[in-house]
Amino acid sequence: METNSPTSHSYFSEEDSVEAVVSRMGDKSDARLKTVMASAIRHLHAFIKEVEPTNAEWMTALEFLTRTGQMCNEWRQEWILLSDVLGVSMLVDAINNRKPSGATETTVLGPFHVSGAPRYANGANICLEDKGEPLVVSGRVMDTDGKPVAGALLDVWQANEDGFYDVQQKGIQPDYNLRGIFATDINGRFWFRSIKPRFYPIPNDGPVGQLLEKLGRHPNRPAHIHFIVGAEGYQPVTTHIFAPDCPYLGSDAVFGVKESLIADFRLVDNPTGARELGFSNPFVAVSWDFVLARK
Ligand code: BEZ
Ligand code: FE
Repeated sequence: METNSPTSHSYFSEEDSVEAVVSRMGDKSDARLKTVMASAIRHLHAFIKEVEPTNAEWMTALEFLTRTGQMCNEWRQEWILLSDVLGVSMLVDAINNRKPSGATETTVLGPFHVSGAPRYANGANICLEDKGEPLVVSGRVMDTDGKPVAGALLDVWQANEDGFYDVQQKGIQPDYNLRGIFATDINGRFWFRSIKPRFYPIPNDGPVGQLLEKLGRHPNRPAHIHFIVGAEGYQPVTTHIFAPDCPYLGSDAVFGVKESLIADFRLVDNPTGARELGFSNPFVAVSWDFVLARK
């Protein structure tokens, strides 16, 4: 007999609450969905039994989740923000990106990646506005044996001097400001010009921001530059490099910092080098190598 047939008996009780719900799933349902939902129900009921919410508290939770969904639009994904601030995005990332030792570690993608960024030659300046401390980023893409990877693509994006991505300030920043795609040369080398990143708050004018505030947590992400680095035959890596002198390095609102991703942003006092780069002197330089694992 189907467990959810009208004649089966699985009346609800506090003690048997999990069994009452799990046993309703039909035998023909997708096996993975049943496994996932049985686990979700088990953990959710255990949570409710531990917390014992009042009806009013449970309604507050449901209203919070409702507002989280209502906050979402084409440019705003409040559910991803919630997953990020609860550490769930980083946990899913860790589970799905167990890399061989030596390969560059991954971190959160975040909501501000845009596909179709401009493709630039090495050396281009991705800062399209006259703001920020000049920065030159250079390095190599290598495999786990230390051999250079030619023709690897680096998709780069970062926030501007005021802590906003171009997509957060349409009509204020130029489109595609601080974004670009670069390819490594035959020696696996890349380089581009930009500005030194600074810390910024994740969007905090919605329910997730209110939750952080109630929990006594700040919304800031430490200064970083985003990269997706990929090449034919290699596993792509979604990652950041972090500036070492940022006050929020130890308390990233989305738990994205890994020690191996903290780079050395050097202040360079070199008038000739600055002139060659079209920078004022001094300027900031960072060298960073990415290591890709084979597929
Ligand atoms: C970001 O680094 O762009 C980001 C990541 C998670 C949440 C919000 C922003
Ligand atoms: Fe970011």
